[in-house]
Amino acid sequence: MGDIALRPATPADAGAICRIYNQGIEDRVATLETELRTPTERRAWLAARGPRHPVIVAESGGEVVGWASLNAFNPRAAYDHVADLSVYVERGWRGRGVGRRLLERLVALGRELGYHKLVLAAFPFNRAGIALYERCGFREVGVYREQGRLDGRWVDTVVMERLL
Ligand SMILES: CC(C)(COP(=O)(O)OP(=O)(O)OC[C@H]1O[C@@H](n2cnc3c(N)ncnc32)[C@H](O)[C@@H]1OP(=O)(O)O)[C@@H](O)C(=O)NCCC(=O)NCCS
Repeated sequence: MGDIALRPATPADAGAICRIYNQGIEDRVATLETELRTPTERRAWLAARGPRHPVIVAESGGEVVGWASLNAFNPRAAYDHVADLSVYVERGWRGRGVGRRLLERLVALGRELGYHKLVLAAFPFNRAGIALYERCGFREVGVYREQGRLDGRWVDTVVMERLL
């Protein structure tokens, strides 16, 4: 993994972030989101983020192969020290350590930004995602049963957290 570089996302990354996110949406193992995005929409998404909600990308040979973000968990002030997170790796690059690099950087950024905790929700059948989070020190909080409807079927979600 020596040739992987991490850096903050820029507006020029919107196309790659969109492509990788859409792969995750289409795979139906990553998210309850079903609406495919466009580069224009992702550019606006990037532009709307403040300094406490960074997006980073992983690059190899000038190509973006993954992205990750710290997201607002809840607008109430009491939750200011909790961030939700996202991690998405290009299909052909999965299982090669990119997700781990991105998540470790998100944890470091979370600490730098003064967050107390990172949280996420994953599908119980997302083996790669759950393995990644466990390897990076996240613990299972519990399972929301039949939390979402995906393609006409109920799906559970696993809530996980890591205190920083
Ligand atoms: C989930 C995802 C981000 C993981 O990133 P990745 O680059 O594939 O994972 P890594 O190669 O860094 O592996 C991280 C750990 O998980 C383990 N792992 C990876 N894929 C696995 C799989 N399919 N089954 C079991 N364990 C797996 C690895 O062994 C590794 O552990 P190790 O560091 O102790 O060896 C990536 O697969 C992905 O983008 N999937 C689609 C989007 C998604 O599901 N995002 C998360 C939404 S909750």
